[in-house]
Formats: sequence, structure tokens, C-alpha cells
Amino acid sequence: MVERGPVILARMGKTRPVEPDPVPIVTGWTASREALTDRRLSPRSFVEDMVAGGITAATAAQVAPLFSRHGEDHRHLRAVLSVAFTPRKVEQLRPATRAITERLADGIEAAGGECDVVSSFAEPLPPEVFALLFGLPVEDRDRLARWAAEIALAFVPTQVPDEVARVERAAAEMREYGHERIAASRAAPGEDLVTRLLEAEVDGEHLTDDQVIAMITGFVFAGAETTRRQLTAAIQVLAEHPSDWDRLAAEPDLLPTAVDEILRLRGIVPGLSRRAEEAVVAEGVEVPEGGRVVLLFTSANQDPERFPDPAAFVVDRPDAHAHLTFGWGPHLCVGAGLARLELAEGLRTLTTRFGPPEVLETGPASGFAAPDWLRVRFPRR
Ligand code: HEM
Repeated sequence: MVERGPVILARMGKTRPVEPDPVPIVTGWTASREALTDRRLSPRSFVEDMVAGGITAATAAQVAPLFSRHGEDHRHLRAVLSVAFTPRKVEQLRPATRAITERLADGIEAAGGECDVVSSFAEPLPPEVFALLFGLPVEDRDRLARWAAEIALAFVPTQVPDEVARVERAAAEMREYGHERIAASRAAPGEDLVTRLLEAEVDGEHLTDDQVIAMITGFVFAGAETTRRQLTAAIQVLAEHPSDWDRLAAEPDLLPTAVDEILRLRGIVPGLSRRAEEAVVAEGVEVPEGGRVVLLFTSANQDPERFPDPAAFVVDRPDAHAHLTFGWGPHLCVGAGLARLELAEGLRTLTTRFGPPEVLETGPASGFAAPDWLRVRFPRR
């Protein structure tokens, strides 16, 4: 049987003949931040692993467009994207995000408070927000969520042939979808991200349609699946701390800090791997050129030298935002602000509308550090 750990962490454990054995693991907060800002360490190991797992090189580049770029090329493309993720642009999505969470909570209430909180809340929220950002029809929400979940399989450590086929099929469907959306944006340019990508110039050249499609595909996974899992993990943590649930309902200004504390203690990205483009020394260990190093965020996020009483969940921890769950440095999560907003708005609505949930049943976590489904009962306030 294929062993499934948290998605990215498990992938990191994969070794190949050129690797030093064991692969060096960086565990401290300071050393992890240094490694994340060290441009000699690149994330191309993600794409290499997918190809080693049987996924075609073209699909790997499509599902992880930014991880396959590093250096100047990457910096220019990020500059194009960053314009869509300024704090002001993200803030503009707040009212719509809040309205979506309220509508989803209405559904939970109508069902008497007992539900699978993943399919009724955590899963539909991110693709709806994502659709707004990219100017995609909101009716596409469910298929975007399905593609995100299928593409996530590309990031699990070892794909069985059936999973490779599902990734390839989802990528092919997204290519077709991407062509349709590009045609729609060309016919009626808007303020959305697809239009922006079509108009953008990187090094004096427009992106090709395939590159724009890769950006849409990469974002569907990066934006939808991660946020869904993190929101599920957030509900789990707060179900374990019912007095904090009630405190957030009474003091919503605490939500941003609480979200960061959840990301610190129960972040769904346990770590990342990097490929050394040149020999480097990480946390005192030499990584040869071409070698791999693993950055263990679960450990860095609980480094006692950075976070006092690191294993405790402290809902108002002042420096919780220093966690590494969104990475750091040149590849720092582009969508971190949007993810924080979705998490805060999701929790704001749930904590104000319902009392602390009782967890009835927890599903398996296929690949990620948060379950596929979570049956809960929400008491009405
Ligand atoms: C809680 C939810 C999320 C988590 C935990 C998360 C985590 C991460 C992490 C750790 C990285 C860095 C990867 C590396 O350094 O190799 C990353 C990169 C990225 N994230 Fe997120 N992310 C989340 C939500 C989002 C959202 C909502 C979006 C967009 C709508 C997004 C888009 C991206 C993109 C495009 C990158 C690649 C950046 C680059 O390579 O320059 N993420 N994310």
C-alpha cells in the first residue's frame, strides 16, 4: 500500500541516487528563513518529483508554473501577479467573501446545524472567491473545486497510475477551460486576472496562451485546495478550544491573530523541499550542488527560540504571524493575504452564527494535514 503523509512533507522524503543520504533537514526558524531567502536553493524539486512519479513534463509545468521558475524569470512573472494581490485589491474582496460565507452558513442552519463542514463550507468558499478574482463564472465553482482536488494528487509523494491519469485528465480539462476563458476575456476584457495576464508583458513579451492557462491551473490548486484544507483545520482546532471559539465571536478583532496562530500550530504545509543549484551550508550541514534539502515548518513554527511555549494554542499570541506556513522569501505565497482574509471571514461567520461545534466524525486526510470531510453539529446561538 502507498503510504500517505501530509502532501508536501511526504514528497520531500523522496530521495534519488544523487541525494546525500539522509537528506539534510532544517528544523530551526532562523535557519529555515535563511534557506527560504537563499536564491541558490530552488523549488524545482516539486516538478522533478512529479515527473519522477509518472506525470508528463508538460502537465507538471502546467500545474506548478511558479515552482518551475526561479531567479529573474520568476521575479518578473511575480511582479505581474502581485498587482492583483495588493492589500487594497484583496480588501476589496472582503464584502463578497463575507456574503458567500453567510450564504453557506444559511445552508448549514437550514440543515439543522449538522453537516459535513468541508463540503458545505470549507470546500465551496475558496473557488467562489477565486472565480471573482479571475473573472470566472461563479457557476464554475464546483468543477474548479474538483479540478483543484484532482491536481492536488500531483503533489502527493507517490502517484499510483490511476492518480496520474486523474491529474492528466484534470489538467487536460483545465487546458480546454483555459482556452474558453481566454477567448471570453479577449472578447470582453475586464478588471480580472485573466485579462491582466493576457495584457502583461514579461521581458517585453506577452505570455503565451499556454502560459496563461498554466497560471490559471496553478492558482486553482494553490488557491482552492490549500485554503479548503486550512479552513477545515481551523474549525478542528477551534472545536478543540470551545472557549476560544466563543471569545472570537465576542472579539472579532482577534480573528487575524487567531488565524495566524492556527497557521503556526496547525498549518497544512508541514514543510518544503529545495534543490541546491550550488553547494550551500544549511543549519551547519553541507548540501552539495544538485542535492536536496528539506525545510521542516512544523518544527520551525514551534521553535522555542522564536515562539515562547511553542506547543500551546494561544489565540492572541502577539507574534503568531511570524510562522512559515506561507513560506518566505522569493516564493512566499502570493495569495497569503487572500487566504488570511478567507480564513478570517469564514471563522467570523461560523463563530457568530453558531456555538462551538461538536465533532461527530473525522474523515481520512488524503495527502494533506487536514481531513477530506468532517461531520460536526453546530448549536445555534
Ligand atoms: C491557507 C492557504 C494557503 C497556504 C497554506 C499556502 C501555502 C503556500 C506556500 C508554503 C507557498 C510557498 C511554496 C514554496 O516556497 O515553494 C505558496 C506559494 C504560492 N501560493 Fe499559496 N498558500 C495558500 C493559499 C493560497 C491562495 C489563496 C493563493 C492564490 C489565490 C495561493 C497562491 C500561491 C502561489 C501562486 C504560490 C507560488 C508563489 C511563487 O512560487 O512565487 N496560495 N503557498
